[in-house]
Amino acid sequence: VEIFRTDYEPLPHAVTKINMDFNLNDRKTIVTSELTIQPNKLYKGNSKDLPLDGEEKIVKLLSLSMNGKDLKEGDDFTLAPGKLVIKNPPAGAVLKTVVELVPEDNFKLSGLYKTGPMYCTQCEAMGFRRITYYPDRPDNMAIFEKVRLEADKKAYPVLLANGNMIDNGDLDGGRHYATWTDPFPKPSYLFCCVAGDLGKIHDTYTTMSGRKVDLQVFSESHNVHKLDYAMESLKNSMKWDEDRFGLEYDLDLYNIVAVDSFNMGAMENKGLNVFNTAYVLADKDTATDSDFERVEGVIGHEYFHNWTGNRVTCRDWFQLTLKEGLTVFRDQEFSGDMNSKAVKRIEDVRALRGGQFAEDAGPMSHPIRPNSYISMDNFYTATVYNKGAEVIRMYQTLLSVEGFRKGMDLYFERHDGSAVTCDDFLAAMADANGADLSQFSLWYFTNGTPVVTYDAKYENGTFTLLLTQKSKSDKPLHIPISVGLLDKASGEEVVPTKVLNLKEMTQEFKFDGLKGEVVPSILREFSAPIKLISASGKEDEEALAYLAARDTDGFNKWEASQKLFTSLIFQAKDGGMTEKTYGYVKEAFGRTLTNKESKDYSIIAYALIMPTQNTLAELVDVVDPVAIHKARGAVKKRLARDFATELKERYDELTAAMEGAEFKVDSESIGRRRLRNVCLGYLCEIYETPEEQKVASEIAMAHFKNASGMTDKAAALGALASMDGEGATARDEALEIFYNDAAGDFLVLNKWFTIQAMADLPDALDRVKKLKEHPDFTLKNPNRCRSLVRAFTANVAFHDESGAGYAFLREVLEELDTLNPQISSRMAGALISWKKYNEKRGLVMKAELQKLADMKPISADLFEIVSRGLK
Ligand code: ARG
Ligand code: ZN
Repeated sequence: VEIFRTDYEPLPHAVTKINMDFNLNDRKTIVTSELTIQPNKLYKGNSKDLPLDGEEKIVKLLSLSMNGKDLKEGDDFTLAPGKLVIKNPPAGAVLKTVVELVPEDNFKLSGLYKTGPMYCTQCEAMGFRRITYYPDRPDNMAIFEKVRLEADKKAYPVLLANGNMIDNGDLDGGRHYATWTDPFPKPSYLFCCVAGDLGKIHDTYTTMSGRKVDLQVFSESHNVHKLDYAMESLKNSMKWDEDRFGLEYDLDLYNIVAVDSFNMGAMENKGLNVFNTAYVLADKDTATDSDFERVEGVIGHEYFHNWTGNRVTCRDWFQLTLKEGLTVFRDQEFSGDMNSKAVKRIEDVRALRGGQFAEDAGPMSHPIRPNSYISMDNFYTATVYNKGAEVIRMYQTLLSVEGFRKGMDLYFERHDGSAVTCDDFLAAMADANGADLSQFSLWYFTNGTPVVTYDAKYENGTFTLLLTQKSKSDKPLHIPISVGLLDKASGEEVVPTKVLNLKEMTQEFKFDGLKGEVVPSILREFSAPIKLISASGKEDEEALAYLAARDTDGFNKWEASQKLFTSLIFQAKDGGMTEKTYGYVKEAFGRTLTNKESKDYSIIAYALIMPTQNTLAELVDVVDPVAIHKARGAVKKRLARDFATELKERYDELTAAMEGAEFKVDSESIGRRRLRNVCLGYLCEIYETPEEQKVASEIAMAHFKNASGMTDKAAALGALASMDGEGATARDEALEIFYNDAAGDFLVLNKWFTIQAMADLPDALDRVKKLKEHPDFTLKNPNRCRSLVRAFTANVAFHDESGAGYAFLREVLEELDTLNPQISSRMAGALISWKKYNEKRGLVMKAELQKLADMKPISADLFEIVSRGLK
């Protein structure tokens, strides 16, 4: 059934308090819940009943009583699939339910399930109804007064739930228990409990008001040595939120648990975060620099949710971006402050363009606040998260950092302890600043990526910028466009960054008093999630080359080099590179590569990296992935040859600088490794003659064998994995060494699968099919599944015109959907944009989608995605 945003209605009654008891036994867990029910003042309708959610096949109802009396079906309650309706409960009634679960059979990883040596829960969005009968919606905030866990002491020595532990002890038969309480009211999606045999590290943090908080991070014992970076990141997050937003942690204990089987990245359960191991475990031998960055970002993200999500939560799931967009923005700002702002911005925009833009152009396109859903889990999207974060960033750009802070303060003053909407957030921002944001609110209603075209002219000391917007909104959007002007002759910035308020469909902006011709730098820092294009349809390459060399805005400097790359790649695709464009690219590339003044190695590296395949695909009407891949390769190869000497020089110099140096994960060291690996990537493109193949494979093999940590090791293996001919032996040897070195490490093995799934080899699909039968492969673990199958969908071989790649994915999805629909529906995303591809491919993709749609049974999750795709 499809649920609509405009159908929201408060509940007739609310559960204000709950006590729970979990009796954990092998293949039989008994959950007893006591719900205190009160009439809901916000309710305006006529019903007197309280509907409770519960998945009847998962939670077997054993008994049901109210105020100590058994209830009769029909008279006192009705039980339909998914709904238990309690008829006319009196104010203050205590409803007691006893249900039975089998967490061991829960492969959907929603509700209570077993992973490795532990039981854990995942309740967002609608997992709590797989644990007990309850009003499983975020506007029901209740005090979880007592949560008691009881289990075998030897197998499950650690028993955790939200809040603070108030009691624990031993019981007969080798069992024990622990009772927890959470003083803060919360919706059911923030509930969590964990029982397992876990190791941990401990630390403390003293908050700005002087309260001491215990911090614990748990994992399986063999991973405890990989938890330190997460702990460090947690303390940094706590400090940052105090400094930037004046927000302090509110409990005496903060627990984090790492689990191997998890559908998403992590979960912000009150006082008890659960993390996918991929986003919490990190040490230099098993994690890449990007993994470290992700750990820091996700630890921050979940911590920041404590205020933006938990203390103030969402009224209904359509408001998801209220907490996710805002919290992603907060984690982006945090990471930028911890490392480099410009690098972080580049990475975030790369991700937005590579993922969200495509989503917004395809059948899953939706506003950051969606209008309807069948399965809410399908709407934890790049749009809600990443475009949502861009919308929050625009508030800050429009209102200034101080104005944004004022708005946040007012938001918490008004709404702490409640469940609210995106309109409430907007109102707080507007009221705190005396600003009119009514037009800005259209961002919450508008799907698709807006396009802004610009036309620029200079005359007699006046620069005129004409901006025209086009979007799916009938009325114009309010778009902040940050602009700066550089003097063409001197290269100096004559107008520093200024925010233009584009509020009309077409609007003219004038800058006068200029001394001479200027080069405009438009959309600095990527001030809005739009596509910016020149009105002439053609980019001024001379201006781009100028900006690539001189722009004072780090983001736009990078952007200019990317645009030059883009022109050149499309030329290569459509008939051949022109010498003029190649000249600009070559000049920029050479200058960047040989820049020895800057220690901003990451900035240099990103300026040398070409736009991703996905970003390029987003720019054309009909996508031929093979042609784009070839064109991109041709540009890369040509640059590699023309700069063979400089690349090798830079590579050797970075190698020398690293030798003997202590291994560090700071911006400079990360940047150095990043740049060296980019050089390696280019050097390995020189791979025509047998002699060249030998040379390339030797460099990569040496890189592999002398790797200082996983970053270099994975980069080298990535290069080797695509080698055939003279490099084939080195490739196979490295793959074997990597596998053996992994010694079963779950996350390292995922990399081993991914690198092979992404290899640029003609027989990539056959290799992937073989790997699917590998003893270490399983569809039951989402990370493992993604590491092979999803990774392969990013390989150009997936798009082989025979359609074999599409058929392979469909077969996997058929199997996967019976286990874990959240993951099958996610991965089906690789097939739904069939209209974007040339006809031959598109029709094969569509046919595979149709086969999925015809599948019986099919999960609601997958059904929603494939039917949107077929519409
Ligand atoms: N709230 C979590 C986070 O972003 C994500 C949980 C999503 N879970 C899901 N089943 N869709 O931090
Ligand atoms: Zn989140």
